[in-house]
Amino acid sequence: MLPVAAIRRQFPILAQEIDGYPLVYLDNAATAQKPLAVLEAMREFYEHDNANPHRGMHPLAARATAAMERAREAVASFLCAAHPGEIVFTKNATEGINIVMHGFRRNWGKGDTVVLNPLEHHSNIVPWLLLQEERGIDIAWMEIDAEGNVDLASLERILRGKRVKLVSITALSNVFGSRPPLEDIIARAHAAGALVLVDAAQAVAHFPVDVAALGCDFLVFSGHKIYGPTGIGVLYGKTDILSALPPLLGGGMMIREVTRESFTPADIPARFEGGTPPVAEAVGLAAAIAWFRQYAWEDIEAHERSLLALAKQELSAIPGLRCYGPEDSARRYGTLCFTVDGIHPHDLTELLGRQGICMRAGHHCAQPLHERFSLPATTRLSVALYNTEEEIRAVAPAIREAQRLFSPSPP
Ligand code: ALA
Repeated sequence: MLPVAAIRRQFPILAQEIDGYPLVYLDNAATAQKPLAVLEAMREFYEHDNANPHRGMHPLAARATAAMERAREAVASFLCAAHPGEIVFTKNATEGINIVMHGFRRNWGKGDTVVLNPLEHHSNIVPWLLLQEERGIDIAWMEIDAEGNVDLASLERILRGKRVKLVSITALSNVFGSRPPLEDIIARAHAAGALVLVDAAQAVAHFPVDVAALGCDFLVFSGHKIYGPTGIGVLYGKTDILSALPPLLGGGMMIREVTRESFTPADIPARFEGGTPPVAEAVGLAAAIAWFRQYAWEDIEAHERSLLALAKQELSAIPGLRCYGPEDSARRYGTLCFTVDGIHPHDLTELLGRQGICMRAGHHCAQPLHERFSLPATTRLSVALYNTEEEIRAVAPAIREAQRLFSPSPP
């Protein structure tokens, strides 16, 4: 069982009130809060070790370099990558996907196909739309059912009928909380000669992600969703595949040699890390991973699953409220999206915020998914390991209060 009360004491931000209401932070899919271990590691780095890594001969530069490389090792171990060189530090998951897109820019053209799924976040749609605009590639969409389950037959049809170069798929929907069957998708894509990119931005905080077991070719995530700082993300790529891609950013440290006429790029991962890297953020991310790994996955999953099951049970009892995504709470991870008849999700979410309950409203950067279900917007409740049953139980009364405010006044 997770020691939730002790965990909460490590998050000073959670112990506050908003206009007299206790803060109930349920917007963790947007960004998770940071434990003291992360704040202290970053402060310690700036107080004692700060320097520009990989560039200096002096002791502080050596410490900063060592800290950066220790962070890379921590991420490699977290993801079960074969080698720390397969871990590229980026700004966020979005940048990682853009690095991969740019890497194929020169070689892909008409008839080459990227396969997506309606569950995708815009960060895994727009880069491919850019490539479609520029190079005329095709984008083919898998189909999903009403609960967000991927229709594998639709993937098979695309793989048989088109020249598929890449299947780019989320490991966990940031709206439905559903998990596409990655193993199956990766096996089918590889059998058809396609590469696979996994967007693990939501997944990494909710269940184990093992690139060796998955066999995916690329994987991305953002540090801030796993209790680390903003400004740092990760692109994992298999050594041989990553080594064949040209860099996105040209600049310092991503080169082996520069002349007036030309340059030779560095080996991976430096080739993709042009410019001064986010070293304090890498230290923070490593601290977040070390902090997070002290808790057992089965405890994190059991706790979050019970919170979401409780949320679904409490919310489903509200007249006019409709939940989306998997019916079975055992198949839902991280988030619960819903709408309430007669109240726009923006209004509802703002009213809940006035009672200290922080959630997100809108299309959650997944507009094609909302269009697929003819939804202009939803409200999203998303959990982290520090949330409590008491917090979840505060949501339904607050929604009923909003309904009272929106109902026509009695004569
Ligand atoms: N991708 C983040 C979300 O889904 C911002 O809220």
